Amino acid sequence: MAVLRDRTALVTGGASGIGAAIAAAFTAEGARVIVADRHPVPGDASAIRLDVTDEASVSAAVAEAERRLGGLDVLVNSAGILTESPLAEMSAATWAETIAVDLTGVFLCCRYAVPGMIARGGGRIINIASQLGIKGGVGLAHYAAAKAGVIGLTKSLALEVARHGVLVNAIAPGPVETPMVDGITEDWKRAKRAELPLGRFGRPEEVAPTAVLLAADPGGNLYVGQTLGPNSGDVMP
Ligand SMILES: NC(=O)c1ccc[n+]([C@@H]2O[C@H](COP(=O)([O-])OP(=O)(O)OC[C@H]3O[C@@H](n4cnc5c(N)ncnc54)[C@H](O)[C@@H]3O)[C@@H](O)[C@H]2O)c1
Repeated sequence: MAVLRDRTALVTGGASGIGAAIAAAFTAEGARVIVADRHPVPGDASAIRLDVTDEASVSAAVAEAERRLGGLDVLVNSAGILTESPLAEMSAATWAETIAVDLTGVFLCCRYAVPGMIARGGGRIINIASQLGIKGGVGLAHYAAAKAGVIGLTKSLALEVARHGVLVNAIAPGPVETPMVDGITEDWKRAKRAELPLGRFGRPEEVAPTAVLLAADPGGNLYVGQTLGPNSGDVMP
């Protein structure tokens, strides 16, 4: 059964990793999906170029997705970056870039998608946070602060718009094998795996079904402002 038959969705960061897996899972469930990314996959007709840190780019991409799809039922905010630096050595520019992409980018995409969803009588927003926003991480103060911010934004927006039928939730994955973690040293990955109750990282296609659940009717109908944790047991809030 295609649980997202005829739903329309915009997935930011959808050219890679978790966003790409969510776009594929939504498509497999019958949704019509537009992928928006700073680096769109060449030749993908469903792709839009988007920089989530640029308000004009976000406003144009949301309008274009609404035009092509006839309105947006679901927004998935998966665009993100990860860098590492001890706080005492971190440049203000590194801090600002992470906040711009990982937190302000989510704000901007929600800001421009919500009015259309309210006008249509409902919608779903799924923000990809991280379990690091709950537990923190060494060398990751900027990233963890942004992701904790996404969880707070998610709860606040959920409270504002639930009465309009717009359900806003977050997913806080644990470590997932994507290009984002490719750059991290093998030593760190080995130690991290040993720490996880499951003993392994997740794969993007193991995170995507949580997004399908949140987007689906009736599966997602009662989730409001929640943060779901497909995280190999890394955090148990
Ligand atoms: N991989 C993990 O272990 C993990 C764990 C928890 C949370 N996350 C989060 O999941 C989300 C997806 O990460 P991923 O692991 O799939 O990484 P990824 O690097 O594979 O994908 C991220 C995508 O975001 C895009 N992007 C980056 N900056 C952008 C911008 N300014 N505008 C538009 N697009 C931009 C990139 O081009 C890329 O396609 C991120 O928000 C990340 O923080 C990842």
